[in-house]
Amino acid sequence: MTGRVAGKKAFITGAAQGLGEAIARMLAREGATVALTDINLAGARDVAESIKAAGGVAFAYAQDVTDAARWPVVLEEARADMRGLNILVNNAGVAGAGSVETETLEGWRRVIDIDLDSVFLGCKFAMPVIRASGVPGSIVNISSIAGLIAAHNSAAYNAAKAGVWMLSKSVALHGARMTPQIRCNSVHPVFIDTPILDIFKQQVGAETALDKLSRQVPMGRIGEPDDVAWMVLYLASDEAKFVTGAEFKVDGGISAM
Ligand SMILES: NC(=O)c1ccc[n+]([C@@H]2O[C@H](COP(=O)([O-])OP(=O)(O)OC[C@H]3O[C@@H](n4cnc5c(N)ncnc54)[C@H](O)[C@@H]3O)[C@@H](O)[C@H]2O)c1
Repeated sequence: MTGRVAGKKAFITGAAQGLGEAIARMLAREGATVALTDINLAGARDVAESIKAAGGVAFAYAQDVTDAARWPVVLEEARADMRGLNILVNNAGVAGAGSVETETLEGWRRVIDIDLDSVFLGCKFAMPVIRASGVPGSIVNISSIAGLIAAHNSAAYNAAKAGVWMLSKSVALHGARMTPQIRCNSVHPVFIDTPILDIFKQQVGAETALDKLSRQVPMGRIGEPDDVAWMVLYLASDEAKFVTGAEFKVDGGISAM
């Protein structure tokens, strides 16, 4: 088998569309067996079928990443189907808009639950499964550039994604003490053209939305899903075997300003 992650077994949350789909397709193309999970099982199944049609090995599972009891069950199902687990990509997430004054407590809790608590659960329950596979592993947590730079109307999302950033470092330090070792890094994309932008596109029109977002980015455009998938591929692969506890921006230069 050839490919940059040949022979590895990867579990990707939120893989029915957007970045999760691109990451699953990329890892599969580079030789990994992939387990796709999503709250949208039909969508995850469609992506898995299309990966299989292209010659890859893929499985799909229903998972709400906020459901703590479901995590060990779905990890065990995926481990059994794939015959091991080496890579976890905590990708599932939702956008959240609202200033500290307009955000409701309910809205705050929802974003923290889906975007941060789920990453804690994923790392917590996957680490023993990865370790039991007997070879070094890799966890990649999809944060956001919003975890490193704030916006006035993004209180919950900023807080959740900043939490993912620092949680990833704690997980990395814990994983460095294990045998076999488990690396953990966070990825911080700026705007990427996925369905997460649909609400904004509906509000102001697709062209205006893309224009407004692109103007904020020094490179003058928003990213494509594969821009993030290439980064995840590197971090998941053994090319990154000495890389852990670090943050990787895929942001067209916005955080350089
Ligand atoms: N697209 C961007 O501009 C951008 C930028 C920075 C960070 N991100 C982050 O990247 C990740 C993926 O975003 P995307 O752009 O692909 O979004 P998306 O909305 O296109 O896809 C998100 C996927 O997650 C799934 N999901 C949502 N809640 C879930 C839950 N509770 N349990 C399981 N699955 C759930 C959805 O069904 C969907 O398939 C998110 O964590 C997001 O915050 C995205």
